[in-house]
Amino acid sequence: MPRIAVIAGDGVGTEVTREAVKVLRAATSAGPELELVEWPHGADHYLSTGTTLTDDEFRDLSSSYDAILLGAMGDPRVPGNEHARDILLGLRFRLDLYINFRPVRLLHPDLTPLKDRTEKDVDFVIFRENTEGVYVGMGGVFKKGTPDEVAVQEDVNTRKGVERIVRAAFEYAKENGLERVTMSDKANAMEHAGGLWRRVFREVSREYPEIESEALYVDMLAMDMVRRPERYRVIVTGNLFGDILSDLGSQLAGGLGLSASGNIHPGRVSLFEPVHGSAPDLAGKDLANPFAAVLTAALMMRHLGCAREAERMEAAVRRAIHEGATTPDLGGTLGTAAAGDAICRYLEEDGA
Ligand code: NAD
Ligand code: IPM
Ligand code: MN
Repeated sequence: MPRIAVIAGDGVGTEVTREAVKVLRAATSAGPELELVEWPHGADHYLSTGTTLTDDEFRDLSSSYDAILLGAMGDPRVPGNEHARDILLGLRFRLDLYINFRPVRLLHPDLTPLKDRTEKDVDFVIFRENTEGVYVGMGGVFKKGTPDEVAVQEDVNTRKGVERIVRAAFEYAKENGLERVTMSDKANAMEHAGGLWRRVFREVSREYPEIESEALYVDMLAMDMVRRPERYRVIVTGNLFGDILSDLGSQLAGGLGLSASGNIHPGRVSLFEPVHGSAPDLAGKDLANPFAAVLTAALMMRHLGCAREAERMEAAVRRAIHEGATTPDLGGTLGTAAAGDAICRYLEEDGA
């Protein structure tokens, strides 16, 4: 029986995760049985206990669960974002979840801001490196608070780290019969990191002669994702560029209310979370779209070997969009909970 830690987190994270859990229960009412264990971690927990995630809790998460489902971390009462760094980034680093898998998939033509584009035109995945880059926190400040202040934030790229994410992208393309892998960097300005990425990308690409490979500067790619999204299939990039490109990609496919992601190390406990954050502007108003969280839970189910349940959950979201059973960000009038209820109802009707 899959055992899942549910960390709803902050802001709309708690609201959308509640719906994802409801949907998971509806999708598995006839089995497989899931054990969903709720964890209280987030800003409230940090502010009341003074701890973000203890070493014992980390050990428990890494050894006695099959997956982690997370809502969002971020709260205006914690302006330094310590808890998100320890919990979200901490889990990515400490569990070595090197693949941040972020699909960009248009589910209905009306949802894209692009003119004359349909589902087949916006359908790619981003493989974001998830354990290195500027996110590692190396660096420091000097003469803080003075006019001479210096801030250094190092960009760490290792041969091993680059190779494994590039290989994961090619393997995904191969398994799914996709014709092209696009690597994106900024080698024209950042030659040390870019040089490593380009060399490794070229080397690994030789193992996949049937797959076309190309390296594009990230500024050009950001523009071209909007101009010609249809040519992209698999994009592989570093941590920061992947973060930015995934929000851009998200909007091409209807916005953050629909974007799912998985933080994955094959064979290990992995962490699934929507691409969006805690959206303090929507929190507590029953306005957040729960579909990104539902689609994230579907990704998790597929990762756990429950492809049938994942497909049913995705089909229910597609049906909700087609029937207009959506929250205001997608043009509907439903609240967060009512949108989650609609998905549960479709799952019951579909009955399988
Ligand atoms: P955000 O993703 O929370 O919000 C960006 C915009 O998208 C806002 O206009 C918001 O209303 C909208 N939006 C987000 N989720 C939505 C949903 N489910 N339905 C409808 N609209 C939605 O990004 P932000 O405002 O930059 O960040 C807010 C906080 O969240 C910050 O503390 C940030 O660090 C954190 N954050 C956390 C995660 C995470 O935990 N995975 C991801 C991104 C941001
Ligand atoms: C994301 C978020 C995080 C990131 C933040 C909250 C640190 O934006 O998951 O996309 O930058 O990775
Ligand atoms: Mn982000």
